[in-house]
Amino acid sequence: MSNVPHLFAPLLLRGVNLPHRIVVSSMCQYSSEDGFASDWHLVHLGSRAVGGAALVMTEATAVTPEGRISPQDLGIYKDAHVDKLRSITDFLHQQGSYAGMQLAHAGRKSSTARPWEGGKALSAAAGGWKDVLAPSALAFSADYPHPVELDLKGIQRIKDSFVTATERALAAGFDVIELHAAHGYLLHEFLSPISNLRTDRYGGTFENRVCLLLEIAKQVRKTWPEERALFVRISATDWIEDPTTGKAANGTSAGGELGWTVEQSIKLATKLREVGVDLIDVSSGGNLATARIPTGPGYQTHFAERIRREANIATGAVGMITDPVQADHIVRSGQADLVFMAREMLRDPYFPLTAARALKQEIAWPVQYTRAADGKPPVRKQLPS
Ligand SMILES: Cc1cc2nc3c(=O)[nH]c(=O)nc-3n(C[C@H](O)[C@H](O)[C@H](O)COP(=O)(O)O)c2cc1C
Repeated sequence: MSNVPHLFAPLLLRGVNLPHRIVVSSMCQYSSEDGFASDWHLVHLGSRAVGGAALVMTEATAVTPEGRISPQDLGIYKDAHVDKLRSITDFLHQQGSYAGMQLAHAGRKSSTARPWEGGKALSAAAGGWKDVLAPSALAFSADYPHPVELDLKGIQRIKDSFVTATERALAAGFDVIELHAAHGYLLHEFLSPISNLRTDRYGGTFENRVCLLLEIAKQVRKTWPEERALFVRISATDWIEDPTTGKAANGTSAGGELGWTVEQSIKLATKLREVGVDLIDVSSGGNLATARIPTGPGYQTHFAERIRREANIATGAVGMITDPVQADHIVRSGQADLVFMAREMLRDPYFPLTAARALKQEIAWPVQYTRAADGKPPVRKQLPS
């Protein structure tokens, strides 16, 4: 047997012993009231666990009420949110899937309508809120709210809410926490010079712009038990840079900079590794409304590969990964340790089962479904809850 890692090889991250490499990527469902998970979340996330995902991530889960993208976002800003989340992690564990929670604050992209209701800034009458917070008072675009610049007290309150949310995620039985520092939400807004024009210790130099994320990662790592894993999702680039020339192609920041770049991502990933982050989930974009992004199969995977190699940290690849051979190749060729999948998981919640059949690899089936499998597959083992 070859030792080359592949899609169906296990991966141990601290005490999280993933049976293979397929992860359900975070996907907002905009189906909560006051942040509460519902039966929709149980069935949606539960179906993907039945489908055999090694790790099922919740959608972006707001650490404060004003940190929600829409009034219908999932939240973990109240103790009362824990109970229903606990029943969801129990079900995922019964199916042999690990449970991950993505912790988020939407920053200047909060207080908007859910996508199928237009996605634009919400008035107070329509359920929006006025305390839309950001590193600097710069709107994402004309369709988004005009944010208020956070003061130091406000920053401290947000840091504290990530820590409290971590305590609640532990009580709810999650195995993995992922800090959402991508897609133009609050933590990404601090990282990037196009959205962070601060002149205090949280803005200006690279060291200052990464300070908030590092402080939160450090605090969360201290709070989160040693045997549970901590991931960070980043946007590897703002896509201002033209990847072929390295020059600004999509406009520059107010200060004329190229925005957030892959080189900065590598430096940041190194620092995150040093504070105990286990994996960087590598996405891109979301902070510049006019960015032109060259999408296509696996279009972000090369960023995961560079960060993995140059920052010496485990990575997750995400973005238009839809095919078993493609996903297997990403792991075999050392581009990433995990494959995060979103839309294909909506089309086919059983993707891990079908991919294992296609690649002739072994995967455990729910005992109730084994008559649909080839031969006699191993039966799911419950994880402790
Ligand atoms: C319906 C939907 C909701 C999403 N919500 C989130 C989210 O809550 N957090 C996040 O980091 N990414 C979110 N994303 C992005 C996905 O996690 C993923 O990065 C992106 O869709 C690219 O992967 P794909 O090509 O496999 O869909 C969402 C994507 C979709 C389609």
